Amino acid sequence: MVLPDNARMAEQDPLAAAARAAQLRETLHHHAHRYYVLDAPELPDAEYDRLFQELQALEAAHPDLLTPDSPTQRVIGRVLDGLAPVRHAVPMLSIQTETDTSAAGALAFDARVRRELALPEDAPPVEYAAELKFDGLAINLRYAAGVLVQAATRGDGETGEDVTHNVQTIGQVPLRLQRPQDGLQGQTWPAVLEVRGEVYMRRDDFEALNARQRDKGEKTYINPRNTAAGAVRQLDAKVAAQRPLSFFAYGLGDVQGWPEGQEPATHAQLLDRLAAYGLPVSQDRRVVQGAEGLVQFHADMLARRDALPFDIDGIVYKVNSLALQKQLGFKTREPRWAVAHKYPAQEQLTLLRGIDVQVGRTGKLTPVAKLEPVFVGGTTVSNATLHNLFELRRKGVRVGDTVIVRRAGDVIPEVVGRVATQPGPRQPYVPNFRLPQQCPVCASAVVRERGGMDHRCSGGLFCAAQRKQAILHFAGRRAMDVEGLGDKLVDQLVDGGIVRTLPELYTLGVAKLAALERMADKSAANLVAALEKSKATTLARFVYALGIRQVGEATAKDLARHFGSLDRLMDAPLDELLQVNDVGPIVAQAIRTFFEQPHNREVAEQLRAAGIHWPEHEAALGPQPLLGKTLVLTGTLPTLSREDAKALVEAAGGKVAGSVSKKTDYVVAGEEAGSKLAKAQELGVPVLDEAGLKALLAGGG
Ligand code: IVH
Repeated sequence: MVLPDNARMAEQDPLAAAARAAQLRETLHHHAHRYYVLDAPELPDAEYDRLFQELQALEAAHPDLLTPDSPTQRVIGRVLDGLAPVRHAVPMLSIQTETDTSAAGALAFDARVRRELALPEDAPPVEYAAELKFDGLAINLRYAAGVLVQAATRGDGETGEDVTHNVQTIGQVPLRLQRPQDGLQGQTWPAVLEVRGEVYMRRDDFEALNARQRDKGEKTYINPRNTAAGAVRQLDAKVAAQRPLSFFAYGLGDVQGWPEGQEPATHAQLLDRLAAYGLPVSQDRRVVQGAEGLVQFHADMLARRDALPFDIDGIVYKVNSLALQKQLGFKTREPRWAVAHKYPAQEQLTLLRGIDVQVGRTGKLTPVAKLEPVFVGGTTVSNATLHNLFELRRKGVRVGDTVIVRRAGDVIPEVVGRVATQPGPRQPYVPNFRLPQQCPVCASAVVRERGGMDHRCSGGLFCAAQRKQAILHFAGRRAMDVEGLGDKLVDQLVDGGIVRTLPELYTLGVAKLAALERMADKSAANLVAALEKSKATTLARFVYALGIRQVGEATAKDLARHFGSLDRLMDAPLDELLQVNDVGPIVAQAIRTFFEQPHNREVAEQLRAAGIHWPEHEAALGPQPLLGKTLVLTGTLPTLSREDAKALVEAAGGKVAGSVSKKTDYVVAGEEAGSKLAKAQELGVPVLDEAGLKALLAGGG
């Protein structure tokens, strides 16, 4: 979109200035919606910034032109003395919770609705709108003449707190409603429209925030919900603006005057309408018939729960017809037409029975909480990470405490905090756990790099724990892929002194294996066959399997592609390693250090002597339309799984990276794509959908 360059004129002529300001606001609103809500920007960031700054300058020169919905008001960073109370025009009610997490919860709700509507048994099923129960903070957004004039928390339902200054910093919340572009020409929005919804924090945003805190040695946050709620209630909008928040609309408060033809008849239409006004509405919703449909949605979303980019604590069922909602009405503080059907909680309290120390493949010592087993996030958890000593201390966790365990998404379970055992002031913290000064497995000295947060065993492959992890890593699915070599067996092999080095794996015979406890002749034969099969591999897998620090799967692939032979890689000087895509000084040095150890070169040679082989110069295999290209995958693609898409890209010579940078060639975005897509736009990286990716793979890029 090109704007007439009447900026200079606007400086002098107040009328021209007003017109130009209005035009800029319109344009900036349009692009903010494309960017934050639709995730489909049309304008490079630099251009957006230029227009934004022009508006800022105009408003500075003509303060009377400043409007509350101006996009410049998102970033002013107001600081308040306290949050002002806001009396809700329509009370913000809560919703009845069905705590029976089984299908019975949905059946009970449907039965209640049918009874209260006095429906005969043979009446057709009731139509419901089923949607996610977002785990965040309820917010009321008041729009007057389409402009956001106030944002308030729920408070006690009658009176909440004014948090407009913070909500204005949330990019997904429109400061001004859009004109619906669906044929209702000339129609706008109700004179007063209160939109209700949930402010939340995405899981990846939360994890990244905590990773930053951990790196700085600062306090980590408990969960996305508390972090979002804390941010919304900040007095200083600058603090709130640093917490990446998101928003979903799910209902209405006070509404005065629907434009003709726009008043929705169902809840589903209402949400469509809000989306047409530019508000973010979740696509994971369904209109269903009767209890059966509710049960199905509940089960489908439970299966997808861990894969969603944000936390949900259940499903909300609403009678779809707004007329029937009215007929059903309210029971004191809750509507009769809605219910929350919970999922198993992702946080639980349990007793911390002890703290073990686990030694990882690279020697990192992790304090691991031994818990009274507890059902959390859908499974029974008895171990959870405490990350590192510093974090454990900061949380003030002691053996014997009642602690909060969190398991959400595919993140490993963690202890996020403790609960005070006694009310009143906190006792001084006296730790009852110490990290050992010697490795609990091999007794080598435990060391910590200066300024680092991690303690490590200095024993290297002398350490049985590191050896076990090294073998498990070597045999892993993405490495040498030795089927049947699991942790129980590796324990036996290492503890029994049968396998001391990786090459010794290939000397195992059926007789020796069959002599092990719980090992049948058949399993022994299978393992020997699996080891034999693993010998035919690729250079990339082999390099990854060696377990060089800093060398993950992607780097191993880059190295294999660049050097084409093991000998060239082992002898590569630093400056040549630095030529490899995405290899920086730290990774290059780690590779050098690894191959400078005579022991490691010996292991590599012995493995080769044992019969491990790969085609030389892998990059020469087949056509490689994506050779040298780096792609980032984000969101859910319509037909390809993440794994499949990655495999296809790599087979075509391309590389899949985890984050978007200037070096990214393409971002492939599906549904629910988030911050990576925004980043791509910021950097001007081309964005493709699945069809675009397939065209590239076919060589049509
Ligand atoms: S509807 C009158 N829909 O759950 C009914 N609430 O007590 C108003 N919540 O804290 C609530 N997702 O913020 C509704 N899709 C959804 C929701 C939802 C989350 C929260 C809401 C409130 C609680 C309901």
